[in-house]
Amino acid sequence: MNYDNPRLILDSSNPPEPGGITWRSPSNIAIIKYWGKYGVQLPQNPSLSLTLAAACTDTRLEYEMRENTGGIELDFFFHQQPNEAFAAKIKTYLESLVPVFPFLEQLKFTIYSGNSFPHSAGIASSASAMSALALALCSLEDLLFGTLKEPEAFDRKASWLARLGSGSACRSIFPHAAVWGESRFVPGSSNEFAVPVGDRLHELFKDFHDDILIVSADEKAVSSRDGHALMEANPYAATRYEQARTRMGTLLDAMQAGDLGTFGKIAEDEALTLHALMMCSNPSYILMQPGTLAIIDRVRAWRAETGHPVYFTLDAGPNVHLLYPGEIVAEVRGFIEEELTEFCENGHYLQDWVGEGPEEL
Ligand code: DP6
Repeated sequence: MNYDNPRLILDSSNPPEPGGITWRSPSNIAIIKYWGKYGVQLPQNPSLSLTLAAACTDTRLEYEMRENTGGIELDFFFHQQPNEAFAAKIKTYLESLVPVFPFLEQLKFTIYSGNSFPHSAGIASSASAMSALALALCSLEDLLFGTLKEPEAFDRKASWLARLGSGSACRSIFPHAAVWGESRFVPGSSNEFAVPVGDRLHELFKDFHDDILIVSADEKAVSSRDGHALMEANPYAATRYEQARTRMGTLLDAMQAGDLGTFGKIAEDEALTLHALMMCSNPSYILMQPGTLAIIDRVRAWRAETGHPVYFTLDAGPNVHLLYPGEIVAEVRGFIEEELTEFCENGHYLQDWVGEGPEEL
């Protein structure tokens, strides 16, 4: 896939009016995890995620023609405040996209970005933030050149661009669920962009919850980039990648049939495998905390006691995601309040659910 396009140049004798584009894009939660990459942001194994709804980023991209060309001109505001650290990252990202969007060097940009969840919630915002920006860039291309009218082509390019910003972000482009990475079980799947798989899933995944128990809101002990790099020397890497490739088929079959038992078994095993891989990396990281383990214990006990299909997953951190169908929302919320919030920082947890994907505002 090569999106380099020298024709996307603005005619300076007929400059566009200044304008702006705003996208709201959600976070996602991986059921089969992406952990390990190669080349330019390419995954070592396919991953599958549910697209969330409540945890999202709003990004407004304002542009105006400028006189000089060369380099990226950008002001960046996060929750109304100038943010130099984010500005530098976004600038590097946009610079890398100049062969794809040569017009980026002809415009001056101001970006306003903000998350629906508190910055200190211990939730990674790279997936929602990078997907929102990628979508805004595709809308800008279409507005200036009329070249992305076809929705499938638009989404594919947005997913490809989002991947370059943060791997997991490429999955946030699609409603309900997406697969990123070549898989023999998903026609049209690719290492370069995600594809939607929501249509293949049982109805119950359209009303499906992910409540996020905030065990700690501290900064991550290891960045995603460093974490992925640790897989290069991990003695279990090859076995792990093969496991993910094989179980993609089992997971999709289970999700199609509405078989929550198999879905939950894979979700929990993926979370614990991710953490096991971090524990036996060099250097080693233990990102679970006592509260994480206590919650896992209680969830398993409550499930055995009540028979309710509630399962956990984890990202590269201590917070626990509880996955369950909408029909038991009242029971699970009662359980969380009674038995789990005592392990959460300030009793804090976030309610999220499977959503319809990004929207232009
Ligand atoms: C554990 O997408 O944050 O959440 O590509 O370096 O930005 P970069 O990594 P990132 O990694 C996410 C890892 C994960 C699992 C997942 O979301 O699949």
